Amino acid sequence: MAVLQELQGKAAVVTGAASGIGQGIALGFLREGASVVAADIASLDATCALAAGEGLADRLHQMTADVTRETDVAQAVEAARERFGRIDVMVNNAGGAGAMQPLLDIQAADFDATFALLLRSVFFGIKHAGRAIRSQGGGGVILTTASIAAQMGGCSPTLYAAAKAAVVRLSAMAAVELAPWRIRVNTVSPGPILVPGFTASGIGAEQLARVQPWPDAGQPSDVAAAMVFLASERCPFATGSDLVIDGGVVAQGPQLLKRLFADLAQHRE
Ligand SMILES: NC(=O)c1ccc[n+]([C@@H]2O[C@H](COP(=O)([O-])OP(=O)(O)OC[C@H]3O[C@@H](n4cnc5c(N)ncnc54)[C@H](O)[C@@H]3O)[C@@H](O)[C@H]2O)c1
Repeated sequence: MAVLQELQGKAAVVTGAASGIGQGIALGFLREGASVVAADIASLDATCALAAGEGLADRLHQMTADVTRETDVAQAVEAARERFGRIDVMVNNAGGAGAMQPLLDIQAADFDATFALLLRSVFFGIKHAGRAIRSQGGGGVILTTASIAAQMGGCSPTLYAAAKAAVVRLSAMAAVELAPWRIRVNTVSPGPILVPGFTASGIGAEQLARVQPWPDAGQPSDVAAAMVFLASERCPFATGSDLVIDGGVVAQGPQLLKRLFADLAQHRE
């Protein structure tokens, strides 16, 4: 019996596909039958090798792109149209930590670079994929990797949190504007996900899992599963939404009672 593939026949662009979550999304989309333009500023050799290992390389097109440059993002969208004849799904995923300094020490150039990487890039993706999907007709999907840092403190550097909050709102407003063309626009907000950046700093699955209620650390494939769902025909009415994939971190909150009572107990000792 043929297995139902959620994204059969669809063409997608995934930015930041060389590593971590983006690599997981690219592979997840390929496994579900999509053709994928994998775009990144870094080498995509590892992603291509993984796809080839599963016999999926014929539906993968790799290209170098810097998402802070509008022409590069436009070219990634164009590459999908040239190679696969269409674009159905855009995933704005590329990102990084941005400026790490305390707010009062951040220079204007670092502020601009952070917002160029985390917010302006998403605007470019929405704009160029939106135009292409509108002109081909029949609708499509634009997804962006946001973060739970958009909702709460203590998860990231300050500018990162501000940029991700802006990404969530930009995406929601785009959903309003693009609805007449049946273009669904949503964000996925991951909590801590085990990517090479964590592993390189000595943080493994065990440490990561300890910060959340759910017993297992989040993996790129967990975010990819949410992206596949939102990109598929299974949720045709979901637009303007933000799907949190975080093992319960936001639900858990700041644990005020636990901290207050621990503090009281300490004072009584
Ligand atoms: N890992 C987490 O815990 C986590 C949590 C919430 C949100 N996110 C978001 O997930 C997305 C992916 O991050 P990740 O955790 O997989 O990290 P990662 O570093 O493994 O992957 C990021 C990818 O983006 C690429 N990239 C960076 N700058 C680029 C540019 N200018 N143009 C094109 N590509 C560029 C990198 O080369 C890399 O391949 C980011 O938007 C990040 O903010 C990650």
